[in-house]
Amino acid sequence: MIFLVNFYDFLSFFFTFVLLSNLFNAMKKFQLVTSVVEYLPNELPLELAELVEKAKLATQKAYAPYSKFNVGTAVLLKNNEVILGNNQENAAYPSGTCAERTAIFYANAKYPDVPVDKIAIASFTNGDFTADPITPCGSCRQVLCETEVRFGAPITVVLYGKKKTYVVENVSSLMPLSFGKENLL
Ligand code: THU
Repeated sequence: MIFLVNFYDFLSFFFTFVLLSNLFNAMKKFQLVTSVVEYLPNELPLELAELVEKAKLATQKAYAPYSKFNVGTAVLLKNNEVILGNNQENAAYPSGTCAERTAIFYANAKYPDVPVDKIAIASFTNGDFTADPITPCGSCRQVLCETEVRFGAPITVVLYGKKKTYVVENVSSLMPLSFGKENLL
């Protein structure tokens, strides 16, 4: 008790303690959970496996001379049409676009009233498909979130890797606390 030399020191210590404990009481911690289902090769349900095959094919038409990292996507719409996309790079690097946005924007441009049901994503580099699944970048998650909200329907995300495939039931759980139209009000 070196610093509690007198009554006033004690009082100031006491009130600081009360103030700080009130601050801590007001603080809240919560967790946001993302559920991922992991499938080993050959475990994937047929409908998803077929979509993955289309995404894999789409990697072969990517334009990725700079990164040499080809990404392909297959977007299944509620009208059962499948739209393919891949990354489109540019010598001015930031002008390039990811595979996910290529496909989603094209799908929404072609069918503005048809919800997106699922998206499969595959990547190919160094002469082979990647062993681990790749996940959409932040900008693509933002665009996928907008699409989910726009049509009011969850989009299943299928992330292919040779070793394992991840399935996530909606995009919003891949991008918790995302910016949305409600923030503009
Ligand atoms: N890329 C995609 O197309 N989708 C992703 O999910 C991650 C990255 C592209 C962007 C760039 O053309 C290349 O992969 C390397 O980053």
